[in-house]
Amino acid sequence: MAKNYPVVSEDYKQAVEKCKRKLRGLIAEKGCAPLMLRLAWHSAGTFDCGSKTGGPFGTMRFSAEQAHGANNGIVIALRLLDPIKEQFPTISHADFHQLAGVVAVEVTGGPEVPFHPGREDKPEPPPEGRLPDATKGCDHLRDVFVKQMGLSDKDIVALSGGHTLGRCHKDRSGFEGPWTANPLIFDNSYFKELVSGEKEGLLQLPSDKALLSDTVFRPLVEKYAADEDAFFGDYAEAHLKLSELGFADA
Ligand code: HEM
Repeated sequence: MAKNYPVVSEDYKQAVEKCKRKLRGLIAEKGCAPLMLRLAWHSAGTFDCGSKTGGPFGTMRFSAEQAHGANNGIVIALRLLDPIKEQFPTISHADFHQLAGVVAVEVTGGPEVPFHPGREDKPEPPPEGRLPDATKGCDHLRDVFVKQMGLSDKDIVALSGGHTLGRCHKDRSGFEGPWTANPLIFDNSYFKELVSGEKEGLLQLPSDKALLSDTVFRPLVEKYAADEDAFFGDYAEAHLKLSELGFADA
């Protein structure tokens, strides 16, 4: 769908640029890119295209949404971000959380994801239960990403590559361990590991492994494992769509 981006003031654009630099510094200092990407994704991934509720509109600022089971640990990202948010009171929480996700990918060596400012903060969090369940398979992934969020099969596979960053924590999700040997580098190693099978010390969630069992998903996994440029191109496109669900629709 063609986008109709809102016009923001020069002051706002400058604040976003300055904020971006502060975010680069924070993420480099704390090594918290994975958590920032998870924050941006969990904010946006609640979008429901039928009711046009949820989505990347700053509602993770509410303790009610932070308390959703899927969001265990997200509050750590928000506390790390507080000192920067305080310096940029004019920037919406919505823009700020999505900017953190875009910067997290950029500073770990991933593709540049375009960022358009102007999201407004919604007054209420979405209901719980819209984010995917890691114990389920491809039908469930399509229910969430395609039917609920309005994304595509290709977006599912490309975005799953976000697991090239970070790890699972027993006390947050019940799972433990990283997907790759270098969880602070954004590259195509998630797909390389997925096609090469389970390995000691690394983890694959049931929802990751499910990608191998589907006739549409599997060729994409194999393509991204073999061709990092193809992954980066599709990832940037999918991340942009995710970060703008329900935003600036014409
Ligand atoms: C496809 C469905 C998905 C499922 C079922 C899923 C599930 C999970 C689970 C269970 C964790 C572990 C949380 C913890 O214990 O700390 C996790 C972490 C993570 N997820 Fe996903 N995820 C999905 C998609 C995505 C997407 C689309 C992205 C971003 C594009 C993403 C980015 C991350 C990152 C970066 C982490 C690591 C966080 C950290 O290191 O603290 N995930 N995910």
